[in-house]
Amino acid sequence: MEQGKYYIFTYGCQMNVHESEKLAGILEDRGYTKAGTPEEADVLVYNTCCIREGAEQRAMGNIGNAKPLKKNKPNLIVAVCGCMPQQKNVEATLKQKFPFINIFGANNVEFFGEYLDVFLKQRKYQNKILQDQDYQSNDKKIKIVRDNPYCAYVNITYGCNNFCTYCIVPYVRGRERSRPASDIFNEVKQLVEVGHYKIITLLGQNVNSYGNDLTEDKTTFPQLLEKLSKIEGDFQLRFMSSHPKDFSDELIEVIANNPKVCKAVHLPVQSGSNHVLKLMNRNYTREKYLDIIKKLKAKVKDLSISTDIIVGFVGETEEDFEDTVKLLQEVQFSNAYIFIYSKRKGTVAEKMEGHLPLEIKRNRIHKLLEIQKKYTNNHFLSLVGSTQHFVLVEEERPMHYIGKTQCGKVVKIKKNKTLCLGNFANIKITDYSGGNLYGEVE
Ligand code: 5AD
Ligand code: SF4
Repeated sequence: MEQGKYYIFTYGCQMNVHESEKLAGILEDRGYTKAGTPEEADVLVYNTCCIREGAEQRAMGNIGNAKPLKKNKPNLIVAVCGCMPQQKNVEATLKQKFPFINIFGANNVEFFGEYLDVFLKQRKYQNKILQDQDYQSNDKKIKIVRDNPYCAYVNITYGCNNFCTYCIVPYVRGRERSRPASDIFNEVKQLVEVGHYKIITLLGQNVNSYGNDLTEDKTTFPQLLEKLSKIEGDFQLRFMSSHPKDFSDELIEVIANNPKVCKAVHLPVQSGSNHVLKLMNRNYTREKYLDIIKKLKAKVKDLSISTDIIVGFVGETEEDFEDTVKLLQEVQFSNAYIFIYSKRKGTVAEKMEGHLPLEIKRNRIHKLLEIQKKYTNNHFLSLVGSTQHFVLVEEERPMHYIGKTQCGKVVKIKKNKTLCLGNFANIKITDYSGGNLYGEVE
């Protein structure tokens, strides 16, 4: 029975993008259908992120926009889920600012359906901030309404045990839990059997520590990749995110030698300074990081490496910053996501001495972005003349096809009868100009 329409706002990482696919499943199971705009919706869901202040502010701004909608449609249900509600003392602030919120918390998503059902019966505010024990059974059968017909996300771990001192994630997502390898295998197999899912992205806060908490059927991350790659079919395995402290030689071998494993690695370094890495509690040194990169580059043909960097962390000196600049110059990442350090309540870094003024942070990020721009550009240029394997053909336009390389770069592909939407192709890159890569079937 048609209940009405839903609209989901998603903020933050791939993990949240995937959780929104589960929220959509929960809503569709209850008879709701997807709305084209927030104005059409009978249920508005804000799947929030709190990794940096900016992410929170974006969500807050949009939640504020629900006020006039609710005025026009008093029965509109407003739910605020995801990471933001999990922080200490946020509920009072949000409820005061936005008294029209009906469902609050419900992170993990499986609780969302329960709260919605109770709210529909009782029309009473539902809230649940999860405690450690609530984080147990995260992978009950939930219908997933996948957004992309070719790329599917699959959770392999939930939560994080690393407690990097800047990071709020371990506080809002609970301790690390690995899904049993057999559950992951079955999910991936089913996806591959559907036929159109060509890229399976395995998700976890730190995929490399997959399996550490498993007591039965112990499986490491490289072993999991090997197992999944035995599934018959035309697909590629990707994964994110990796942590350098757990990035093993065994994993490097699997990336190098297993044709089903994508040759693009996202390996967040965060800082190039040992002093800062220590303050961040990252548990590796600059030398260890560079050693992994060296091995990867030596063993994996046509590899592209991307990273995350935080500038202006507490106590970061000019020298520390220069170490990060040097690391960027040494590795020459194909892409780097660079962030200004954002103070998060309840983290260890919040209470550290030596927070830097915004101006210094801004200067440093500008400098780093400028340097990285050159390497990103060089990376594009270096692709010209190469053949890119496993380019996914995603869209047909009047003049060309749009494809994506393994490392996610968009290519405009010359039309050719052999190209087929939703399939992989080997594409020779013929040009890079005006910010676009051009190619043709090899
Ligand atoms: N401030 C800035 N960036 C952060 N990240 C995580 N926490 C913070 C913070 N407090 C960045 C890290 C991480 C990415 C997902 O977000 O670089 O890898
Ligand atoms: Fe945060 Fe570090 Fe865990 Fe990543 S590994 S989610 S940065 S605590």
